[in-house]
Amino acid sequence: MRPAALDLSALDFGALATEASGCTRCELASTRTTVVFGVGDPHARLMFVGEGPGRDEDLSGQPFVGRSGKLLDRLIAEELGMDRTQCYIANVVMCRPPQNRDPRPAEMDACRPFLERKIALIAPEVIVSLGNVATRALLGTPDGIRSLRGRSYPFGGAVLVPTYHPAAALRSGGEVVAEMRADLVRAKRALAGTPG
Ligand code: URA
Repeated sequence: MRPAALDLSALDFGALATEASGCTRCELASTRTTVVFGVGDPHARLMFVGEGPGRDEDLSGQPFVGRSGKLLDRLIAEELGMDRTQCYIANVVMCRPPQNRDPRPAEMDACRPFLERKIALIAPEVIVSLGNVATRALLGTPDGIRSLRGRSYPFGGAVLVPTYHPAAALRSGGEVVAEMRADLVRAKRALAGTPG
């Protein structure tokens, strides 16, 4: 069943976070510990969008704090010269899917107004989507990250740069990490206004 429409267009960042903290629009609300709204600078020029919270994130309320997050932080520092306070990090769904399964379409649809409002308020110049789930959700394509990465896409007033999910890089190792680094360099160039 499709979730009811939700108009969040009147909410500022604080009001949006408050609204999210009590959200019961999908089944994930019944098993979550914390709503993981996002972290970073609400005026950031660069935004990362992941899939959804895992166990560590569900317990802490912060996105990407587990092993994947440590790798993401390292790559952001090494390739972009930033830390997580200088960008914004969010997920397609704000509540942990049980056993870390992929979020279901109805769950992503339920959370989508929150992600869309976050993107509208932050108005980033560059969005990096992390992995299949986030990239497919944002680009509205069934294609996989392997074929989608390696270039950038217009996304409203922003540029979207797809890359692997850091968990995939942890599983697969060197080559995937190298490709993630190349994607982050692409994001850095887009921030600098340099094509490619
Ligand atoms: N994986 C994600 O996609 N997001 C997180 O916040 C943590 C792990």
